[in-house]
Amino acid sequence: MSDPVIMPVPVFSLLCNAAFALRRAVFVWEQKVPQEEEHDDYDLTATHFVALVEGEVVGTLRLIDLPEHTKIGRVAVHQAFRGRGIARKLIAAAMAHARERGQDRFYLTAQSDKLGFYESLGFVAFGPEFMDGGMPHRAMRDYDKQSAVLVD
Ligand SMILES: CC(C)(COP(=O)(O)OP(=O)(O)OC[C@H]1O[C@@H](n2cnc3c(N)ncnc32)[C@H](O)[C@@H]1OP(=O)(O)O)[C@@H](O)C(=O)NCCC(=O)NCCS
Repeated sequence: MSDPVIMPVPVFSLLCNAAFALRRAVFVWEQKVPQEEEHDDYDLTATHFVALVEGEVVGTLRLIDLPEHTKIGRVAVHQAFRGRGIARKLIAAAMAHARERGQDRFYLTAQSDKLGFYESLGFVAFGPEFMDGGMPHRAMRDYDKQSAVLVD
């Protein structure tokens, strides 16, 4: 497989539409997240990234600028392209893009079975477990790690 091409895309674009279709396939059809929870108002203002392999959108995520940090969300990779490092490359590229713009505090909410993946990218979990989209999640951040405390 050729290396994925990773880039930010405008929200009103064919590539972003393909990313939204991938999100629906992964979150709504595969993970059974309620359809009405999949899109939200942040989609209009977020920075959306796609991973392209031979012109096809096979991965996506979005960055949301919040006052206290940048939130990484909706990380999804096409089932047939998993386990090849695409999510890892997407997250690294999106964080590098944000850092170039002066943002260096990153936050995300991870499905509880994905903590190991995000820990390997430098994130630490904190606070209580909570439900989102019908699945248990934990908040994670890559800053102020020494004060991050898990709550049962
Ligand atoms: C989670 C997901 C984005 C990972 O995408 P991917 O491209 O297969 O991930 P990568 O190949 O970059 O894997 C990165 C690392 O995480 C590990 N990993 C992948 N999925 C994992 C999981 N469910 N739990 C723990 N580790 C995982 C891989 O083994 C790999 O480790 P390595 O680099 O040491 O080999 C993908 O499985 C997916 O789209 N899942 C459905 C949607 C989802 O759960 N999104 C995340 C919400 S928090």
